[in-house]
Amino acid sequence: MKKILVLYYSRTGNTEKMANAVAEGAKSNSDVEVELSYHVDAESLGSYDAILVGSPTYHHDVPIDFKNLFEDVAVKGISLKGKVGAAFGSYGWSGEAPKLIMEIMKYKFEMQISEAPLLAKYVPDQNMLNACKALGAKVSESLMNRA
Ligand SMILES: Cc1cc2nc3c(=O)[nH]c(=O)nc-3n(C[C@H](O)[C@H](O)[C@H](O)COP(=O)(O)O)c2cc1C
Repeated sequence: MKKILVLYYSRTGNTEKMANAVAEGAKSNSDVEVELSYHVDAESLGSYDAILVGSPTYHHDVPIDFKNLFEDVAVKGISLKGKVGAAFGSYGWSGEAPKLIMEIMKYKFEMQISEAPLLAKYVPDQNMLNACKALGAKVSESLMNRA
């Protein structure tokens, strides 16, 4: 069975709301196993077919937890090549983190990135939550067409 990880970080709950909606959308396909998590270790990332990362932007940057995780993946030589990746997150005014994460996934880990980052200004509204669900559902569907 294909596996999707929705990995997120959130201090005040805004990105968490998005992550819940992404996971809900991904679960609309019962042939896919979906895990929603706040923390994973580098080794376990290798076991997923798709990795969707939810990250708020603090201080124009990616949270340190994700930096450490990605550095660990690189240092330990864990291959994420060809896995589906996407990023989303809440922000206040600049919102760099999801884009930076997508760049790492694409250029460093050679993951397959086809969706633009999904960004919510502060609290995600219903339209944004619907877009999050649609993102999860789309990724889930796309895995069905892969070997
Ligand atoms: C100390 C601090 C620094 C922040 N820095 C940025 C920033 O550089 N760019 C930005 O777009 N938003 C910034 N924000 C706003 C957060 O991204 C925003 O509050 C977001 O909704 C937090 O998401 P979360 O609830 O998932 O933690 C900052 C917020 C705080 C409290």
